[in-house]
Amino acid sequence: QLPHTFDKQVPLAVIGGTGLYDLPNLKPVARVTVSTPWGFPSAPITISVTDQGYPVAFLARHGQHHDLLPSDVPSRANIAALKKLGVKAIIAFSAVGSLQQEIRPRDFVVPTQVIDRTKGIRPSTFFEKGFVAHAMFGEPFDLTLNQIISDSLPSSGFLEGFDTEHTPLLHTKKHTNKNEDLTVICMEGPQFSTRAELKLYRTWGGSVINMSVLPEAKLAREAEIAYQMICMSTDYDSWNENEEPVTVETVVGNLKANLANACKVAAHLIDIVSAELVSGEKKLGTSLEGSMKYSVSTS
Ligand code: ADE
Repeated sequence: QLPHTFDKQVPLAVIGGTGLYDLPNLKPVARVTVSTPWGFPSAPITISVTDQGYPVAFLARHGQHHDLLPSDVPSRANIAALKKLGVKAIIAFSAVGSLQQEIRPRDFVVPTQVIDRTKGIRPSTFFEKGFVAHAMFGEPFDLTLNQIISDSLPSSGFLEGFDTEHTPLLHTKKHTNKNEDLTVICMEGPQFSTRAELKLYRTWGGSVINMSVLPEAKLAREAEIAYQMICMSTDYDSWNENEEPVTVETVVGNLKANLANACKVAAHLIDIVSAELVSGEKKLGTSLEGSMKYSVSTS
């Protein structure tokens, strides 16, 4: 039985997506149930401490037993609960389909852009009932956090291989040939996309597709929390007629195989990002402080 309270601020959080329901290589020290004005988060939040002594909060986006549809994830409660714990930066993991041949299943992708294909049914702002605010979102991910992550992981060689032919790669904007954006298309689901939709998204420059980056990234921005998603590619969906169309079995199979890599990436980044948050050198998590003050248009 872990304590239900933790009396220090926790500057860093990891949100786990499908397949990532805890951080098994860290030592849990508390499991807290946080109440917010928007209800309870998807699951109790586990606070762990790394060998270097940094605390980190972990939240399973779809619930601990994966019982929440992407459309039903209580994103406002999730972000508000993390804010309440003192979180200043979030690293969010998500399973994604690949829209590009060179992003192979089991590769990791650190996206820089988002296209919203959700259906407007997910509550996506904290500002309502008489408050109007327009947060800046041209850069949907935190550029400093993106840079720290991209700089601290090599594009190849870090992730464990599965066989001699397949060593998974890490795709970041910095590692692409022309410093091009990597774009995640966020769709509503729960059904996967049609082939025509996927072909359209490819013409839009989509790199990967998921059901989870929104409204999470928008709400983190409104909460002035630095946010970066790390995508775990699980399938080619069905645009790629040379590959088997996506099934849940493919997604879950590739995620299970890749869990050790996700945990390795998370553990590596937690210490690096925490050290950065403590030193304050790059103003990670503090450069957004007070930004929403200028976004409210209600007198
Ligand atoms: N998550 C994992 N694979 C996906 C896909 N093909 N489409 C949407 N979300 C996904």
